[in-house]
Amino acid sequence: MALLPILRYPDPRLHTKAQPVAKVDDAIRTLIADMAETMYEAPGIGLAASQVNVHQRIVVIDVSEDKSGLLALINPEIIERSGEQVCEEGCLSVPGIYDKVSRAEKVRVRALNQQGERFEFDAEGLLAVCVQHELDHLDGKVFVEYLSALKQNRIKGKLAKKARITA
Ligand code: NI
Repeated sequence: MALLPILRYPDPRLHTKAQPVAKVDDAIRTLIADMAETMYEAPGIGLAASQVNVHQRIVVIDVSEDKSGLLALINPEIIERSGEQVCEEGCLSVPGIYDKVSRAEKVRVRALNQQGERFEFDAEGLLAVCVQHELDHLDGKVFVEYLSALKQNRIKGKLAKKARITA
């Protein structure tokens, strides 16, 4: 397993639309293991392949307290959504920035598992937020794009400054 470098906003590669996985094979399973390791190490509760510059439709999520709930979703789709919730979000690609985003309260998700089998599940609360956040990444969208233009510019400024300091 290997830790993968995470792209930082406003890296333009984060805005790439990811392509569906054509075949779930060992290369995909290795990528998922590396993504999970990278997510746990960060630490974070979700990571999309887009964030490690692999533009295929794969996300890993674990909202458990003890790393016991790894969910790997291949070609995930939200097939139903209902309600509304506002949650303070952060993102491994936008370090140190947290802000409120409004999303569906409940979602039903369809995806392939690591054996290439289709499955569906219902998510609500934090898991629903995380699924929506990660699926946005696959469409090239970062959560700060839900914020005002003023806030987005401030965030870009802050991250550029940080990059200069750490470079
Ligand atoms: Ni994110």
